[in-house]
Amino acid sequence: MTDSLKVVPSEDEVRTGVTATAGIATGLANVLADTYRLLFKTHGYHWNVEGPLFYSIHKLTEEQYEDMFAAADELAERIRALGHLAPIRMAEIVERSVIEDPTEMPSAGRMVEDLARDHERVAHRLHALIKLSEDERDDVTADLAVERSAFHEKAAWMLRAIAAQ
Ligand SMILES: [Fe+2]
Repeated sequence: MTDSLKVVPSEDEVRTGVTATAGIATGLANVLADTYRLLFKTHGYHWNVEGPLFYSIHKLTEEQYEDMFAAADELAERIRALGHLAPIRMAEIVERSVIEDPTEMPSAGRMVEDLARDHERVAHRLHALIKLSEDERDDVTADLAVERSAFHEKAAWMLRAIAAQ
């Protein structure tokens, strides 16, 4: 193996004025894990949903998983910019996340309610990350967390609007 292929990724100390980067990187890794798990669940419901609202739910979930896929990349790259390593193990994604797998194939209505509740959970976690980032003078992460929170709160509203009777 040539030397250029022997480089193993490592953590760096950044000097940008952000205090306590480790706590923020952990918060970002948690939200990354939630984003990935909710992305997968959203995709699964997108594939399987049936009934009169098929098209609405199929299209809305498509927009949402595409957004979360792009967001996962942004969250992981922010971890790297803070000098920490991004997760590479699926087990870590599962451990860190508050999103749970469905136990059975749900009805269309239950899918929508389940996703709406999950988006609210992620928003809740993001609010804590916003507070932490502000305390540690990390406006860039706070900004990203605000943007992600806005997405999850809007997604929850749109899903609840479909489930309304
Ligand atoms: Fe699709």
